[in-house]
Amino acid sequence: MTQSISKEAIRTAYDRRVAVRVYNEETISKEDMEFILDTAWLSPSSVGLEGWRFVVLDRKHIEELRDSLKPVAWGAGPQLDTASHFVLLLAAKNARYDSQIIKDSLLRRGITDEDVPARLGLYKDFQERDQKVADDPRALFDWTAKQTYIAMGNMMTTAAMIGIDSCPIEGFTYDAVNDILADAGIIDSDKEGIASMISFGYRLKDPKHPRSRKPRQEVITWLD
Ligand SMILES: Cc1cc2nc3c(=O)[nH]c(=O)nc-3n(C[C@H](O)[C@H](O)[C@H](O)COP(=O)(O)O)c2cc1C
Repeated sequence: MTQSISKEAIRTAYDRRVAVRVYNEETISKEDMEFILDTAWLSPSSVGLEGWRFVVLDRKHIEELRDSLKPVAWGAGPQLDTASHFVLLLAAKNARYDSQIIKDSLLRRGITDEDVPARLGLYKDFQERDQKVADDPRALFDWTAKQTYIAMGNMMTTAAMIGIDSCPIEGFTYDAVNDILADAGIIDSDKEGIASMISFGYRLKDPKHPRSRKPRQEVITWLD
C-alpha cells in the first residue's frame, strides 16, 4: 500500500496534542469541523451498533448554554468561555440484545430478516453471560458510552493533525447536564445521555508544563 502520510507527521501530531483549556478568538471553519466529525462517524463500534450521536455546538450555541452549564461543569470552565466549538458525545440507553436499536443495526448492516434471531441469540449470550450488562441499565449505558471514547480519540487526533487543539471533558455532573440538554431540546433522555464532551479551538499559548507520561516501559509490555 502506498503510504500517504508519514510516520513523522503522525508522531508530530501526537507530540503536539495536549489538553488545551484556553483558546484564542479564531473560529474553526465548518469544513475543518466536518472533517473532524467524519472521523467520529467512521469510528468502529461494538457489534456495529453505532449507539451514539455527536452534537456540535458553535459559538452561538455555547453562549446560549454557557450560564447553565458552567455551574455543573467544573471541568469545562475556560473551555466554555473561549472554545470555537464543542462536540457533545451522546450514548444510547438500553441497547439490550432484544431492543429495536440492536435490530436496526443488524438490518442496516445487511443481515437478512431470517438471520436476525440467530444473531440476537449471540448478542444475548454476549450481554448476559460474557459482559453481564443485559439487565442493568447503567451497565448498558456504560457499554455504549465507552465506545464513544473511540470516536473521542479519533476526533482529537485528527484535529491535532490539522493544527486544531482540543480538550476532552468529563468533569461535570451528569444528571444536571442531561437535564440541561433535555430542556434545550438537544437530547431525548429516554433514548440517550451524555458520555463526554470535547472542546475545540486554537490554543492561546503553549502549555506551561512539559507533557508528563509514565516511563514507556511501565505501560508497554512485550512478552518474551
Ligand atoms: C476522558 C477524559 C476526561 C477529561 N476530562 C477533563 C475535564 O473535564 N477538564 C479538563 O480540563 N481536562 C480533562 N481531561 C484532560 C486530562 O486532564 C489530560 O488529557 C491529561 O492530564 C493528560 O494531559 P494531555 O492531554 O495534555 O496529554 C480529560 C481527559 C480525558 C481523557
